[in-house]
Amino acid sequence: MENPIRIGLFGYGVVGSGFARLLEDIPGAVISRVMVKHPFLHQELDAELLAGHLHDILYSKEIDIIVEAIDDAEAAFTILKLALEQGKPVITANKRMIANHLPEIIRLQKRFNTPVLYEAACCAGIPVIRTLEEYFSPELTAGLSGIINGSTNYILTAMERFRFRFDHALQLAQEAGFAESDAALDVEGKDAVCKLSIIVRHLWGLHVAPEALLHTGIQHVLPQDLRLAEQLGGVVKLVAQTRKLGPGSITAFVLPRLIVKGTPLYQVLHEYNGIVLEDINGDEQLLYGKGSGAEPTARGLWADLQAWRRGYRYSYPEKEPVSLAYDQELILHFSLPHGAYVPPQVQEQLEYYASDSRYRYFTGRLSLAVLAVGSWWKEEGISLLDISAIAGDEAELKEQLNTLMLLRADIFQPV
Ligand SMILES: NC(=O)c1ccc[n+]([C@@H]2O[C@H](COP(=O)([O-])OP(=O)(O)OC[C@H]3O[C@@H](n4cnc5c(N)ncnc54)[C@H](OP(=O)(O)O)[C@@H]3O)[C@@H](O)[C@H]2O)c1
Repeated sequence: MENPIRIGLFGYGVVGSGFARLLEDIPGAVISRVMVKHPFLHQELDAELLAGHLHDILYSKEIDIIVEAIDDAEAAFTILKLALEQGKPVITANKRMIANHLPEIIRLQKRFNTPVLYEAACCAGIPVIRTLEEYFSPELTAGLSGIINGSTNYILTAMERFRFRFDHALQLAQEAGFAESDAALDVEGKDAVCKLSIIVRHLWGLHVAPEALLHTGIQHVLPQDLRLAEQLGGVVKLVAQTRKLGPGSITAFVLPRLIVKGTPLYQVLHEYNGIVLEDINGDEQLLYGKGSGAEPTARGLWADLQAWRRGYRYSYPEKEPVSLAYDQELILHFSLPHGAYVPPQVQEQLEYYASDSRYRYFTGRLSLAVLAVGSWWKEEGISLLDISAIAGDEAELKEQLNTLMLLRADIFQPV
């Protein structure tokens, strides 16, 4: 029988403690030391397990590998660098740290010949990164679209199915341990865009820092958006997308999107994640599972531990160079508070179809480049929804919206 792997664990919150619980039932690995930020909060841990300083773990000969599960991306990067310098492999769930520093992390892995594995950072227990790395080549892939943030999906499902208000649904997501400790990271789409940045690197070979990718979250989604979606035969989801646009050009963004009944993402509810991979012939494959929470994330960390034990490391294969572009057109639906600023060149492209006491409602076919250059559409109160999924025929859409306005004006009443 092999000696158990001796783990130095950073963080003992939702993920760290979940990982420790998982190891209680599985032989083959033990937690030798734990480092937290506030040791006095952790009476549940044996005093000799707790490390007083990160050097106690990183420079210890009694530790084989680092598992990093803290909620501070920059401190995590310091830990990672020091660990690699010491020849200690790192397994991490920290998507912000990976997305922000991936080029440097790739260089450090080569320089110190020591791997970093981060499957749990991207949809917890769903094997997204390894699937992209091992199976999908850019030549045969058209794109990917996915619900990759469990908290926002949980919130939208609760708002849509149980008519909960946003704040109440968010509180439930936090109590269940799905939400980041800083909830804004989830609801403003920052968590999803970090994962998308990692996906883009592994799928197309291009690193784009998360803040450089067009994104928003569900912070401004209105109850009337959900009712409208229902009437149009769908639901609202926060969806990350990346597609090949042409030779040498890809797009990648995160927006609230209308998902119509009968398509794979429609059935992805609660804290579940779903990623649809599309090949160049239009054939789709769905990866589906729990994308957040203690147990799924712990399983992702465990899978990496096993992979490392077998000698696995990401190969970051060379790919045809691509660049990011936003010249793709989408059909967008806007709910604009009266008096909201919209640049004149955008106003020209929008078509008004309804209003109520607080909002005016518009649709329009817009190039994403229009959104990429300004932030007016992220202002408080402005809600944007990508409704391209139902807008094959724009004349039909217009008629549908006008009929809805006549027959179901209650949809547009703010609550
Ligand atoms: N929650 C999820 O479902 C999920 C899923 C996938 C990935 N992740 C990622 O996993 C990481 C941890 O998330 P979480 O939900 O477990 O967060 P959490 O519950 O807030 O726990 C964070 C832990 O990090 C510790 N910590 C913070 N700064 C530290 C530092 N400088 N040195 C040592 N320990 C430090 C905290 O110590 P104290 O306890 O003493 O305050 C706490 O134990 C994040 O990067 C998150 O993005 C989370």
